[in-house]
Amino acid sequence: MNRLYPILIALASMQCVNAKEVLSSPDGNTVVTFDLNATQQPVYSMTYKGEVIVAPSTMGFELKDAAPLTTGFTVDKVDRSSSNTTWTPVWGENDRISDNYNSMTVDMTQHIDGESRKMNIVFRAYNDGIGFRYVFPEQASLKHFTIKDEKTDMAMGGDYTAWWIPGDYDTQEYEYIKSRLSEIRAHSEDNHMGNVSQSIFSPTGVQTSLMLKSDSGTYINIHEAALVDYPAMHLNLDEATLTFTSWLTPDRNGDKGVINTPFSTPWRVIMVSDKATEILASNIIYNLNEPCALDDTSWIKPVKYMGVWWEMITGKSSWAYCNAENFDLATFDYSKANPNGHHGANNENVRRYIDFAADNGMDQLLIEGWNIGWEDWLGKEKDFVFDFVTPYPDFDIAALNDYAHSKGIKLMMHHETSGSIPNYERHLDKAYDLMNKYGYNSVKSGYVGNILPKGETHYSQSSVNHYLNAVKKAADKHIMVNAHEAVRPTGLARTYPNLIGNESAMGTEYRNMSPGHVTILPFTRLKGGPMDFTPGIFRMDIGSFVPGSKEHKRATVANQLALYVTMYSPLQMAADLPEHYAEKMDAFQFIKDVPVDWSESRYIDAEPGEFIIAARKDKNSGNWFVGGVTNEQSRTFDLKLDFLTPGKQYKATIYADAPDADCVTNPEAYVITSRTVTSSDILPVMMASGGGFAISIMELQTATIAIIHT
Ligand code: NOJ
Ligand code: CA
Repeated sequence: MNRLYPILIALASMQCVNAKEVLSSPDGNTVVTFDLNATQQPVYSMTYKGEVIVAPSTMGFELKDAAPLTTGFTVDKVDRSSSNTTWTPVWGENDRISDNYNSMTVDMTQHIDGESRKMNIVFRAYNDGIGFRYVFPEQASLKHFTIKDEKTDMAMGGDYTAWWIPGDYDTQEYEYIKSRLSEIRAHSEDNHMGNVSQSIFSPTGVQTSLMLKSDSGTYINIHEAALVDYPAMHLNLDEATLTFTSWLTPDRNGDKGVINTPFSTPWRVIMVSDKATEILASNIIYNLNEPCALDDTSWIKPVKYMGVWWEMITGKSSWAYCNAENFDLATFDYSKANPNGHHGANNENVRRYIDFAADNGMDQLLIEGWNIGWEDWLGKEKDFVFDFVTPYPDFDIAALNDYAHSKGIKLMMHHETSGSIPNYERHLDKAYDLMNKYGYNSVKSGYVGNILPKGETHYSQSSVNHYLNAVKKAADKHIMVNAHEAVRPTGLARTYPNLIGNESAMGTEYRNMSPGHVTILPFTRLKGGPMDFTPGIFRMDIGSFVPGSKEHKRATVANQLALYVTMYSPLQMAADLPEHYAEKMDAFQFIKDVPVDWSESRYIDAEPGEFIIAARKDKNSGNWFVGGVTNEQSRTFDLKLDFLTPGKQYKATIYADAPDADCVTNPEAYVITSRTVTSSDILPVMMASGGGFAISIMELQTATIAIIHT
């Protein structure tokens, strides 16, 4: 072969790789373009069906004590590939997930201060959005570095309508605000709900997943996928240019990520569709995560549970056993303490809950306040705040587990850490071992209050690492984890499906949330993974069972039932008290019947902040369940049952708001009706203000006619 030939090919490819690179999704609708600008800084942009979603936006990093990774890049090569596969989740909204994308990896070198530093960017274009991540290969000139700021810009294609919560290093427990991007600053003080740990960093900062809508009706959602060994990303808006810049959570030194190469950042993800229902159905976040890392997942099971919980949240009883304060947990003698008389997790009360939960089809019972330390836990930044292994004197851990097991259910463990991560890490092995010893297979953990060590926050790199390490260690011991106040999920449950829940948003513990909240969460918080929202409240006047309380929940009973369908989770709580369910056993039947694992899900109609209607098919039968929720506005809807199998007959039981129901004036009024339906039926449904509807659609067995030939 001519010896010049390979050199000519190399020269030719060098010339063309510096030109613009365009990557389209398999259906051609989503297009991402990469280029280097005049300063040779990487730039990308994104369109959907020709509409500019992200205008040209620069990429890169500022580093601590080193030159920035922004300008002066050359492109070494561009690799392209395509993938079209399906995978089977351990649990989920569907039993098969399609993963279809085109990919482009841009390898670059930056020549700076006499050194060559390599940074690659991988882009993927899916029909429902794009993802990109920075990849740092192992290299001599960039072995170890500290990020001062990630500089990933997202120049929005317009002054979009946004559903946002304030950017905060410590909490996502907020109501959403709906405003134009240009109005975020003006509304930045609207919604500062109290929280023992709160660190808002900017009047134009927002959290992901951020839901947006363009004036032409395109739905856009910005989030991140596979947050591993990196701080969580927020977004900060420059109103003059309507440009978001990534805003990483700093550590206690103000640094935003300590990196050792080789390293890949989390994916930056921009979902897009002209249908709101397709944003709800998008699996792009899971698709951008690694496949399941666990060899054996047979022990991971979706869970429906009740809890000794709402009575403490509402103030009817206490987590604490006595009224002591400011003590050393190592030496405090509970046997000499004076019980306060209203400790919720006492043997008798727990047995009462076990009886009800076991008799009514629950898998588990959560018990909070079972362990010593609750007298002295809140907002004190106390290091040794809990030991996670010592029960209170009135909680017989062995006998109660035996009793629950004898009735066919398990107890669910509770580990409140009070934000003291070092203390939890010191105790984690023993805490998980205790669970194994007594037969607990799931834990609700929690991180209320400022994180220790002091100066770290809920979403800084070391906290992010802690949450995942706790999940991995739990997997080794066959324990499922549901972490509250931990970092918002980014699809890691695909890789570690024992992460069966998170809170990481405002849930039912906020008794007075606005009705529209549940119509936004599936568009935002749930994009990263399921939420332990704790639905199922039947008694809305809290003062009716907690003397002195003036709190009312603004939701109807039918709305609370619908949440088991509209808020997908493999972990669902029936959050109210057994005695409140006992008053309305006809409505409770829906909670008994509704599955927690599905073979197929359909989002029928939705609009963020307004309403959501979803239908799901049970993973283990041909039964379907439908749920609808609305905000303050009452609505009617004609529900087509065309998702049912043609030719089959079903019994539909409709749990509806009564005609005069209203989430404030008449929240507990509901009507239950039944009828036979087929796939050609259309059911008219009504949702009251703050209301909803829930429908179980059970397959009827077709009578078989035996023809006997004589
Ligand atoms: C906050 C959690 O979200 C809530 O569910 C729990 O009961 C309390 N912390 C106490 O751990
Ligand atoms: Ca919480």
